Amino acid sequence: MVQKTTELYRGKAKTVYNTTAENLLILHFRNDTSAFDGERIEQLDRKGMINNKFNYFIMQKLEAAGIPTQVEQLLSDDEVVVKKLDMIPVECVVRNYAAGSLVRRLGVTEGEHLTPATFELFLKNDALHDPMVNESLAVSFGWATEEQLATMKQLTLKANQVLLALFDAAGMLLVDFKLEFGIFNGAVVLGDEFSPDGCRLWDKETRKKLDKDRFRQGLGGVVEAYEEVAQRLGVNLD
Ligand code: C5P
Repeated sequence: MVQKTTELYRGKAKTVYNTTAENLLILHFRNDTSAFDGERIEQLDRKGMINNKFNYFIMQKLEAAGIPTQVEQLLSDDEVVVKKLDMIPVECVVRNYAAGSLVRRLGVTEGEHLTPATFELFLKNDALHDPMVNESLAVSFGWATEEQLATMKQLTLKANQVLLALFDAAGMLLVDFKLEFGIFNGAVVLGDEFSPDGCRLWDKETRKKLDKDRFRQGLGGVVEAYEEVAQRLGVNLD
C-alpha cells in the first residue's frame, strides 16, 4: 500500500500528495467548496467523502468504456490513489444544454438543447478567470500538441456519450461538464475529477439543479443534492 509523503499541491477543493511510489499520487478531497475563482470558499460537511466516492464510481465507468483514467484505487473515504500525470493546463468543456458562462457570453436561453453538443477549451488560470482559448493558441503556446488536443476532444465527447446515458437512466440531464487531461508515459489520460463540483446536473422532470450551481447561486441544500445524485446512480457512500 502506498503512503503519503510530502504535499505536492493544494488546489481549491483537493490536496495532492506525493507518495512512496514515484509514479503515484494521493488526491485528498476536502470539504472546501469554492466559487468565483476561489473568491468564495465554504466548508461543506461530507462533501469531500461524497465527491471522492462519486469520482471513483464515474472514473470506473469511463475506464470500462475505454477511456484511460488516472485512477488506481480508493484509499479511504476521502482519498484516492492516482497515476502521476503531467497535467495539460487546458480544460475541456462539453455542453448538452445552455447554462453558465455560455448563457452570459452569448445571451442564449438557459436550458436550450445544444445539438450537436458543444466543445470548448479554457486555459486553467484563476488570475485570468480561466479565459476561453482555442486549439491554435494551445499549440502555439505549447500547452498541448495538435495530436493531444484531438485525443482530448475525442475522449471528452466519448465520455459525454457514456455519462449522458448513465445520468439519463437515473432521471437526470447532464447539462455540461469539465474534464482535465494529462500525459502518462506519453499517452493522454483523464485526470483531475468528475463530480457535481465540475458538472451541471438537472432533474429530468423538474429541472431542479443538483450540482455546484446550488452553491454558486446560494440555493442551499448543496451536499443534500450531491448525495441525491450519488444515491440515484447507486454510488455506495457507506
Ligand atoms: O462556467 P461554465 O458555464 O463555463 O462551466 C461549464 C462547466 O464546467 C460547468 O459544469 C462547471 O462546473 C465546469 N467548470 C469547472 N471548473 C472551471 C470552469 C468550469 O468545473 N474552472
